[in-house]
Amino acid sequence: MRGSVTISGAKNAAVAILPAAILIEGKCRVENVPDISDVRVILTILQDLGVVVEKLPGGAVTLDATYIRSTKPNPEFVKKMRASYYLMGALLSRFGQADVALPGGCNFANRPIDQHIKGFKALGAKVDETDEYVRLCAGENGLCGNRVSLDVVSVGATMNIIMAATLLPGQTIIENAAKEPHIVDLANFLNTMGADISGAGTDTIKIRGVQKLTGGTYAIIPDQIEAGTYLAAVAAVGGDVLVKNVIPKHMECITSKLEEMGASIQNFDDSIRIVSNGNLTCTTVKTRPYPGFPTDMQAQICVCMTLADGVSKLTENVYETRFFGYCNELTAMGADIQINGKTAVVTGTPRLSGASVTAKDLRAGAALIIAGLSARGTTYVDNIHYVERGYEQLIEKMTALGADIQRIEE
Ligand code: UD1
Repeated sequence: MRGSVTISGAKNAAVAILPAAILIEGKCRVENVPDISDVRVILTILQDLGVVVEKLPGGAVTLDATYIRSTKPNPEFVKKMRASYYLMGALLSRFGQADVALPGGCNFANRPIDQHIKGFKALGAKVDETDEYVRLCAGENGLCGNRVSLDVVSVGATMNIIMAATLLPGQTIIENAAKEPHIVDLANFLNTMGADISGAGTDTIKIRGVQKLTGGTYAIIPDQIEAGTYLAAVAAVGGDVLVKNVIPKHMECITSKLEEMGASIQNFDDSIRIVSNGNLTCTTVKTRPYPGFPTDMQAQICVCMTLADGVSKLTENVYETRFFGYCNELTAMGADIQINGKTAVVTGTPRLSGASVTAKDLRAGAALIIAGLSARGTTYVDNIHYVERGYEQLIEKMTALGADIQRIEE
């Protein structure tokens, strides 16, 4: 693989920041919005609620939520994606009520939302939960800031509680908060619009409620996982690629592992050059919340391990069942992976072989594409719509780097 690739705006930031526009009585402009199907779904949901959405050339979107008509988003769309849970926090904060279907999205594990609910209750919400819906309204004493200590470090719960607290009277303190870059991005977005949030990026976040957010312009950060996926692809396949529009600091947990495996990494201000001859050595990876190695890069680094010299160990600490989304598929391509509880023991083979495989979730699909690019022969990856949920123009970007990859319409 050779040349350069430009990374798009971060999916997991966009799917939070766009619904956070519900909190604003006025127009905001969000730039660097990735053109991916999850973003298209969230924009459809927002339009349906009465948010005026305008897509501008170059990846910018304007949103005006002044005249929202409903606090019940269309369940048909809500069920299409995981991040629709952010509608709960945003609608509750602005309107004191929300009626949101349980989210869908990638089902690589049991993904509870009990910590989101715990947060809403701490803020004074009355919560009515069924197998299908979560209905939120102000409890007897009304909604008000409070202290919330999360039992598990949850990205979604941290961002949802930030949104829910933004327009409430009083101060909210989230303890044991997640520290992912997209949490800082959401806080920066809301502060630009007039919120008062401090501590994002640490495990204690303070939100002093404000009466109103009024609008402004904000650019979403580059996607850490998209960048990591291209870096892993080059490491596995071999080549010399400049990955542009990245924040190298966000990439350290990934680039340090790829370096350990034998790739050469050069950091610049907003780009990273990776050079690999495809000869990798084994390593040990344990997924952890940020700044640890991201679970969303587990499958891609696993492909590198299947090709590395020696025996690697990959331990999943966030979503234990995630291996089942792709390890059988890699085995069908000739990989040697033994799963033992939350650890996969991966014995490297010199080359994988092309096969017909199925993407079972977004990152698993990306990993199978990397495996296919590195394999002898042709690989067919089915269910590519999963990959399109989170990667903008993956086929075009890979092709520009010299990959032989086509989307086959059926
Ligand atoms: C987000 C990301 C996803 C990523 C994950 C971990 C989005 C839209 N998705 O998912 O790509 O894989 O972070 O980095 O941003 N948990 C609970 N109760 C809860 C919430 C979470 O027990 O209420 C557990 C989960 O089962 C998991 C862990 O906490 O074991 C982390 O989950 P969380 O960070 O919440 O992941 P998501 O926000 O769903």
